[in-house]
Amino acid sequence: MRKLWSRFGLGIVAVFAATMVYAAAASQAPEKSTIDDCVTKRAAVEFPHKAHVDLKIACSTCHHTQENLTAESTEAVPSCGSCHNAPEKPETPICTQMSATKNPFHINCMGCHKEEAKKNPATKAPTKCDDCHPKA
Ligand code: HEC
Ligand code: HEC
Ligand code: HEC
Ligand code: HEC
Repeated sequence: MRKLWSRFGLGIVAVFAATMVYAAAASQAPEKSTIDDCVTKRAAVEFPHKAHVDLKIACSTCHHTQENLTAESTEAVPSCGSCHNAPEKPETPICTQMSATKNPFHINCMGCHKEEAKKNPATKAPTKCDDCHPKA
C-alpha cells in the first residue's frame, strides 16, 4: 500500500512538472486570456488577446523575450507568469505589485493604453482600475 501511494505521489509530481514547462505554440494564441496568477487584492483581468493581434500590435511588444515572434512561428510561447510570477531578480517586475511602474502588466497594458488615450480620447483601451479589475 505504501509503495502504491508513493507511486501515486510521483505521478502527481510528474503531471505537475509537465504543466509547469508547458508553453503554447505561437499558432495556439488564445482568443481571450484570463490573467489571474497573482490575484489577491483585485479581481482577475480578462485580456482580449485576438483583439490586440487584430490591431496589428507586434507580438514582441508584449512577448518581449521573443523578438521575431509572428502568428506563423512554430516556437513555443511561455506565459508572462513563467518569468513574472516569482522572478529570480528583485528588480524584475512582479505581478503581485500594485505600482504602475513595478507590475509587468501595469507597465505593459496601462503604459500603452495611456499613450493611446492621449492620441485618441475616444479609445476603448481601459486605464481605470475597475475597467480591468471589475468590482464583484
Ligand atoms: C489595463 C488593465 C489594468 C489596469 C487599468 C489596472 N490593472 Fe492592476 N493588474 C492588471 C493585470 C493584468 C494584473 C496581473 C494580474 C495577475 O497576474 O493575477 C494586475 C495586477 C494588479 C495587482 C496585483 C494582484 C492582486 O490582485 O493583488 C493589484 C493590487 C492591482 N493590479 C491593482 C490595480 C489598481 C489599484 C489599479 C488602478 C490604479 C489597476 N490595478 C489598474 C491590469 C490592470
Ligand atoms: C498586447 C499584448 C500582446 C500581444 C500584441 C500579443 N500577445 Fe500573446 N499573450 C499576451 C498575454 C498577456 C498573454 C497571456 C499570458 C499569461 O497568461 O501569462 C498571451 C498569451 C499568448 C499565448 C499563450 C501562452 C501560454 O503559454 O499560455 C500565445 C501562444 C501567444 N500569446 C502568442 C502570441 C502571438 C503569436 C502574437 C502575435 C501574433 C501575440 N501573442 C501577441 C499578450 C500579447
Ligand atoms: C523568459 C522570461 C520572460 C517572459 C516569458 C516574459 N518576461 Fe517580461 N521580463 C523578464 C525579465 C527578466 C525582465 C527584467 C528586465 C529584463 O531583463 O529585460 C522583464 C521585464 C519586463 C517589463 C519591464 C520592461 C521595462 O521597460 O521596464 C515588462 C513590462 C514585462 N517584462 C512584461 C512582460 C509581459 C507582459 C510578458 C508576457 C506577454 C512578459 N513580460 C514575458 C522576463 C520575461
Ligand atoms: C501596444 C498597445 C497595447 C498594449 C500593450 C495593450 N493594449 Fe489593450 N488595447 C489597446 C488599444 C489600442 C485598445 C483599444 C481598441 C479600440 O479602441 O477598439 C485596447 C483595448 C483593450 C481592452 C478593451 C477592449 C474592448 O473592445 O472593450 C481591454 C480589456 C484591454 N485592451 C486589455 C489589455 C490588457 C489586460 C493588456 C495587457 C496584458 C493590454 N490591453 C495591452 C492597446 C494595447
